[in-house]
Amino acid sequence: MNRIPILLDADTGVDDAIALIYALKSPLAELVGVTTVSGNTSAEQAARNSLDIIKLCGMEGRIPVAVGEKVTLRGEAEAPVPEIHGENGIGGAVLPASVQKPEAEDGPDLLIRLAKEYAGELVVVATGQLTNLAVALRRCPDLPKYVKKVVVMGGTLDAPGNRTPVAEANIVSDPEAADLVLTSFEDVLLVGLNVTMKTMLTMDHVEKTARLCRPENLPIVDFLRAALRHYMDFYARSNGVADSCAMHDGLAMLLALRPDFGTYRRWITRVDCSDGLCRGQIVPDRRRRPRLEGRFVEFAVDVEAEAAVNEMMRVLF
Ligand code: RIB
Ligand code: CA
Repeated sequence: MNRIPILLDADTGVDDAIALIYALKSPLAELVGVTTVSGNTSAEQAARNSLDIIKLCGMEGRIPVAVGEKVTLRGEAEAPVPEIHGENGIGGAVLPASVQKPEAEDGPDLLIRLAKEYAGELVVVATGQLTNLAVALRRCPDLPKYVKKVVVMGGTLDAPGNRTPVAEANIVSDPEAADLVLTSFEDVLLVGLNVTMKTMLTMDHVEKTARLCRPENLPIVDFLRAALRHYMDFYARSNGVADSCAMHDGLAMLLALRPDFGTYRRWITRVDCSDGLCRGQIVPDRRRRPRLEGRFVEFAVDVEAEAAVNEMMRVLF
């Protein structure tokens, strides 16, 4: 079976880490690179986290990691969110340090290089703000012809936002970048809060995985337990549910590799880039005769949530 070449573009926090582990462990994926962006933590720390997780999964030195954009297209710096993802972005979990260094090229350049190397095959899974993809598009306007699909954890459809009443964090952090991505690439899938907030990972899932996983994966489960403690405590405070958290980024990676776990609809879609109350809102034109200027974007509208969580953990069994 041919594996799907995946580039993960992440602000490697706790749920990005789950997406990364799934890509590294799934027999369906060939992870060919990681690019990082500021968000949950700094772009540099996100690269260190990615390198250490790659080492934890036994792949040190085999996957290039490049530090990407530190500011948005408008030049704004995102403040990290230690209250959600901990001081180091991975809930304070301490990992054996990788000796692998980030690439000399930056995130957008690595993305462009790998898109050309895997022309027509590369699937980009973006789990942070979309600045790297937008900068790559500016540097290489024909990038869309090389990329097969872009799967974005971002936005929300008929469900509240998390950063603002209507906007999700990855989109509202750089709406100009998101709008450029949505209007440039032919095949974009948005995996938004409407499905990720249904896909709850619990400590029970983690403990079951500890009992059933292959012995060589036990250090990965130990890492998940440590990183998730901080993240789940945040969820308990903000959502009132103990010992569980949404699998935002993990679900995006899962649906990139296993689209059969979701159901989908397509609409012409833009992003609100105004400075008003709705900045960062995803705007699909659901009228019978759509007149919005833009491209069709695919939305995950439903997910087999429990089966999806189990599948994510099963790669460690
Ligand atoms: O809104 C959730 C998203 O914001 C996730 O990707 C999380 O890691 C943060 O980047
Ligand atoms: Ca993320």
